[in-house]
Amino acid sequence: MSTKHAYPKKVYLNGEILDADQAMISVFDRGFIFGDGIYEVMARINGRFFYKKPHMDRLKWCLGQIDIPLDVDALEQHIPGLLEASGLSDKDCLLYMQVSRGVAPRQHSFPKGISPTVMMYAWDKRLPDINTNHASVVTMDDFRWCRCDIKMTSLLGNTMANEHAMQNDCYETVFVRNGLITEASHCNVLFVKEGVVYTHPAGPYLLDGITRQIVLELCEKLQLEVRLEGIPASEVQRMDEAFLTGTGSQVLAIKKIDGHTYFEKEPGPVTRKIQQAFLELKQGD
Ligand code: PDD
Repeated sequence: MSTKHAYPKKVYLNGEILDADQAMISVFDRGFIFGDGIYEVMARINGRFFYKKPHMDRLKWCLGQIDIPLDVDALEQHIPGLLEASGLSDKDCLLYMQVSRGVAPRQHSFPKGISPTVMMYAWDKRLPDINTNHASVVTMDDFRWCRCDIKMTSLLGNTMANEHAMQNDCYETVFVRNGLITEASHCNVLFVKEGVVYTHPAGPYLLDGITRQIVLELCEKLQLEVRLEGIPASEVQRMDEAFLTGTGSQVLAIKKIDGHTYFEKEPGPVTRKIQQAFLELKQGD
């Protein structure tokens, strides 16, 4: 995520909580050699992890997709100890979790009988009630593979795309595949036209973000019609509003796309309505 943060003090690594500078892994770890691993990012908001179950379920599902065996429920039991050691027991924070296939001599196929390398760390971060930033974004043809639904640590396509955004003084790069907008380098993308919310259907071309799922549920509550349809890149300038969703970005209005401005000052009315409903959800039980 784009949130800049200092190195954490403590790291959970393979069953132990260590000082960060004592947490070491082998250079033969397949996470390092191949990017052969899965990750998750969750936010602790008002003292509880926000939508923990969907995040943990997605971690399980992704690990299953690439045949990494791990007892995710057992891993979850270590989170409170990590937070306590990190001095974050009573603070809002972000938690990063990563599981790689483990250490083995380099070979492409999955080695049998090795233990995964499991790492987690948390850092002190209180997300704003409402993300009041206005993002400028650029579009780019999606040159990534066709399993973007797996939250994998091999993120070179995403980091290159985000760097492209930075080079263009933008927050995000929005991907176009088969002429349609799919997602962004670390967020999902939604559009609004005449009160209807549009976003590309979940599937292999995008990560089915937990924030996206929450927002789609909120739209239902707000009686906003949702159409799971990818918006053609050629149509983005005809949309009324657009916004990004993601764990760190929350619900973030897009101000400009490829130089086209949706609105100058504040986000459009539907985006603001969703931001408000998202805030109420965070503040609720
Ligand atoms: N990024 N699409 C991509 C490619 C992502 O990397 C992310 C999340 C999302 C939004 O997913 P969620 O709402 O579940 O956070 C969509 C995380 C936060 C990251 O890489 O740091």
